Amino acid sequence: MANVSTNSRYDYLFKVLLCGDSGVGKTSMLYRQVSDKMNDAYTATIGVDFKLTTLEMKGHKIKLQIWDTAGQERFKALTAQYYRRAQGILLVYDITNEQSFENTTNWLRMIQENSTSDLKLMLIGNKIDNEQKRKVTTHQGQQLAKDYGLNFIETSALSSENISEAFTTLTESILIHMQGKYKEMVRSQVSLNKLGLNDSSTKPKQTSLCAC
Ligand code: GTP
Repeated sequence: MANVSTNSRYDYLFKVLLCGDSGVGKTSMLYRQVSDKMNDAYTATIGVDFKLTTLEMKGHKIKLQIWDTAGQERFKALTAQYYRRAQGILLVYDITNEQSFENTTNWLRMIQENSTSDLKLMLIGNKIDNEQKRKVTTHQGQQLAKDYGLNFIETSALSSENISEAFTTLTESILIHMQGKYKEMVRSQVSLNKLGLNDSSTKPKQTSLCAC
């Protein structure tokens, strides 16, 4: 998969969200993915912000609307409102900050309470360039991801290691899920037709694969 121009036409629009404690590197991951640059100066995100990027995957152009949410406690009620509109979430902790890892279970609870069951979630351990200060082992991350049935990857926004892989993996799982739902919809439509149970009032006027 490759990044392509953001103003080109696209086949799908997916909304994904970055969440996790303040300072774990969410804005830096977004900046790295969209601009391939490092966000050196730390300025806490106020509320939410988003950027667009376009990816090519399995012959489709996918526009990603990536929402960067503030990690600070005072914004939690505001940012939780955005979970429902997302098809995917990257839940980020800092591998050099144990508290940020422990807090992921609180984030997961808040996500579960404020999102739809269609959501695809991925756990991210960021800052792996800072190995000498590591406090959370890869195994701990893997275990937590396994317990909650999430994909997991460790990244560095500083060195760019695994950043595009994180966005690619999440996007791919959303795409597979959307395509599966579409096939299921077509199958049930065919079954209704065969049974003669379908009439014009139950037929969808237009079928769209866009997760807008
Ligand atoms: P909030 O906006 O407060 O929620 O923080 P955030 O999660 O968006 O963190 P941000 O991206 O602003 O990064 C916080 C600090 O960590 C900054 O000083 C970044 O330069 C630094 N940082 C981010 N990612 C990495 C990384 O992969 N490695 C290292 N060494 N530092 C990083």
